Amino acid sequence: MNQPNALAMLAAAVGAPTFVRHADLLSWVRRIAELTKPQRIHWCDGTQEEYEALCTEMVAAGTLKKLNSEKRPGCYLAWSDPSDVARVEDRTFICSERQESAGPTNNWVAPEEMRKTLSGLFEGCMIGRTLYVVPFSMGPLGSPIAHVGIELTDSPYVVVSMRIMTRMGKAVYDVLGADGGFVPCLHSVGAPLAPGQKDVSWPCNRDTKYIVHFPETREIWSYGSGYGGNALLGKKCFALRIASVMGRDQGWLAEHMLVLGVTAPDGEKTYVTAAFPSACGKTNFAMVIPPEGFEGWRVSTIGDDIAWIKPGPDGRFYAINPEAGYFGVAPGTSEESNPNAMAMLRENAIFTNVALTENGDVWWEGMSKTPPGRLTDWTGQAWEPGCGRKAAHPNSRFTVPSTNCPSLDPEWDNPDGVPISAFIFGGRRSDTTPLVVQAFSWDDGVYKAATMGSEMTAAAAGKVGEVRRDPFAMLPFCGYHMGDYFQHWLNMGQKVKHLPRIFNVNWFRTDEHGKFAWPGFGQNMRVLKWVVDRCQGRAKATETALGWQPEYHEIEWRGLENFSHGQFWSIMSVDAQAWERELKSHDEFFAKIGDRLPKAIRLQRELLGLRLGA
Ligand code: OXD
Ligand code: MN
Repeated sequence: MNQPNALAMLAAAVGAPTFVRHADLLSWVRRIAELTKPQRIHWCDGTQEEYEALCTEMVAAGTLKKLNSEKRPGCYLAWSDPSDVARVEDRTFICSERQESAGPTNNWVAPEEMRKTLSGLFEGCMIGRTLYVVPFSMGPLGSPIAHVGIELTDSPYVVVSMRIMTRMGKAVYDVLGADGGFVPCLHSVGAPLAPGQKDVSWPCNRDTKYIVHFPETREIWSYGSGYGGNALLGKKCFALRIASVMGRDQGWLAEHMLVLGVTAPDGEKTYVTAAFPSACGKTNFAMVIPPEGFEGWRVSTIGDDIAWIKPGPDGRFYAINPEAGYFGVAPGTSEESNPNAMAMLRENAIFTNVALTENGDVWWEGMSKTPPGRLTDWTGQAWEPGCGRKAAHPNSRFTVPSTNCPSLDPEWDNPDGVPISAFIFGGRRSDTTPLVVQAFSWDDGVYKAATMGSEMTAAAAGKVGEVRRDPFAMLPFCGYHMGDYFQHWLNMGQKVKHLPRIFNVNWFRTDEHGKFAWPGFGQNMRVLKWVVDRCQGRAKATETALGWQPEYHEIEWRGLENFSHGQFWSIMSVDAQAWERELKSHDEFFAKIGDRLPKAIRLQRELLGLRLGA
């Protein structure tokens, strides 16, 4: 039998359309279909018709509710199973050949053993369901910074979400050709349907969840969850965990960072990235509207969660947002905190686990000061103000295309990316770390990012409020040994001539009454302007034990004149006792990293200790 014939037979066996002629992909789909035994295979083309048909099917199945077409045209609401509401970090595994390669901050199981477990779980797991083949590009199609993935999933909710979050559709096969490389991403909700069995509105596996990465073979297997980063495999699994390994091997960076542009009144444009742990307001910061006092300034959005950054030919770092949509935390999003987000959520969004109003709209805590009198909460129960329960789940989300964003940067889809002038790192700390500090050097900046601490939020299952070390905001997302990751960052400092400046920020310091001492949100522009001015060589700074910090008069206060010198001092000060505790906590974290902690990090620790007199 000749080759073209064999390919046609393979395509026919899995019902592939004529635009798919990639032999490895076809045989992978056949293997997975044999294993998982779906009722049928659907090859996604990414069209609007396909999106609408899937949404209509999900409305009929009870997975989605169509929202009021006047209030939220083209919008849907999903309520998940109460056991499936966040990323499951304790069920997330990096199955490298050697345990050492995964390092002390990742869960590890030997790949052969994990493959056995997964083969057992995936055996027949799609019985009674449709297997969707979802082709997607992380990054602009054909960009030298972009990479292709194919997700096989039995969840139509995942398919429509992937269409919003990635460049998903037929055109990906043109980039892939007959033998292009792709990251295989296999996903199942882990809930096969026996003949005649009625489906539930949010199928998942309550008892068993596995989010598994094989870094050497660049594969992802996800079982049991239909929610967010567990299931939309282009996002955390591919664009961070697998991509961080690709970046290490190929000399680039895959980071948990937003990317924004700042345009000064004279038109000068400065791009910066910023890394914050989950649910610390990355989406708000990425879309910040300059407040009173910043007439003529503009902030534009490239991305709100992930950046892929490569050295460019002119000796600068260039960043793209590999995603094409935002999967943002809903609670706290309001006209006050993020007017751009409120505008972008007016149409064609999918909401998950927020509350439903009586007139078919959505509501979440913080959307308005006074909640509506009556709601249906995210668990489907009647809800009234003062009933003691939250109406929306704290990790409830919106999924919306980037093109809905009023502050979208004109370069957001530029295949070459945008040149980066600053890296900002910020944790959620009620004390210890100041509002802003610039690192002395690249290595000092890497140290600051490596020792970032943050109080936990609801984005992952865990103890909310507890401080955990979250280096580079990558703790749950780095696909290899954290010590090697630090080294990779140190090495990248040698790769470009014009290094971005590195800054640490903390919007979350509290006063003696436990209230936030910094107004945050739009007012963060005041800090952002200082960062930009530093990059452009305009602003002065004072040397402190931690780095370069602005004096009060270096910050633009027009529009916030009543924020006093004393208040500023209270969130900029360096408390010796707090820093003694902080250094101890750095050391404990370094002990956990072990031998692979780079020498340059140890040196920076020594220097910091000396500067603090500790
Ligand atoms: C996210 C997260 O969903 O970081 O972006 O948890
Ligand atoms: Mn994130």
